[in-house]
Amino acid sequence: MLTVRAPATSANLGSGFDVFGVALERPADVVRVSKAERTTIEVTGAGSEYIPEDPEKNTVGAVAKALDAPAHIEIDKGIRPASGLGSSAASAAAAAVGLNELYGRGHSREALVPIAAKGEAVVSGDAHDDNVAPSIMGGFTIATDDGVTQVDADIPLVACLPDIVVSTRDARRVVPERAGVDQLVETVGNAARLTTGMHRDDPDLVGAGMYDSIVTPARAKLIDGYAGVREAALEAGATGVTISGAGPTVIAACHEGDQRAIGSAMIERFAEEDVEAQVYQTRIG
Ligand code: HSE
Repeated sequence: MLTVRAPATSANLGSGFDVFGVALERPADVVRVSKAERTTIEVTGAGSEYIPEDPEKNTVGAVAKALDAPAHIEIDKGIRPASGLGSSAASAAAAAVGLNELYGRGHSREALVPIAAKGEAVVSGDAHDDNVAPSIMGGFTIATDDGVTQVDADIPLVACLPDIVVSTRDARRVVPERAGVDQLVETVGNAARLTTGMHRDDPDLVGAGMYDSIVTPARAKLIDGYAGVREAALEAGATGVTISGAGPTVIAACHEGDQRAIGSAMIERFAEEDVEAQVYQTRIG
């Protein structure tokens, strides 16, 4: 038996829709794999009651099929499904790494990214690499059709998960099909600032680059109280705030030592909307 821990991730970071992602130090899924005649899946932990154990419907079943690696797969969920923290991607990433090792398939970490993304497609209806890439490779990743660029980065983050359910399918439906040239120019500028900030471990530059006026405002309508929570986090010292992945988690970048105050401010602001929330004081891992 082999055990793999795969971290939660935050995709998009505002200006990098479907491209940027970061691995988070916490929370994480733990997946155990052992060789078997046919694939069977057992799920425990956060939100496990909502996760199918049928290999045809679970992210890890598709990964086992793609690697031709039948196994008994135990998934201990530390990451709630539909949280915007790459829950299904983490399980798929862990299964890809574990089964690759268990069966000696010899794929590199980068080559495992599109394999794990096949699992992701089972739940989102579309294959995205922006969550599986950082979960497998760590740090900050830029995932495009041409491959993954990875940067080790160290930025303190606060992830605030409200008790709201936003499905990835719904969150993708509201993304505008068109954008103006002004918005594209602004987004490219912010994406460049964010990438430079990751190289320099500079929370101010990363935070400044987390803004976009195309995707995030459309999705904010699906999260009760988003504007107020964003404002409260910025007032408490966050250098930038955006929606994590498809939501509903709201993620803030900040300086060392500011996480507790920012987390409390976000929880209090959600409470004003009668929304319970939990906070992860975390960092890029
Ligand atoms: N980039 C994706 C999205 C992440 O925001 O829809 C979720 O798979």
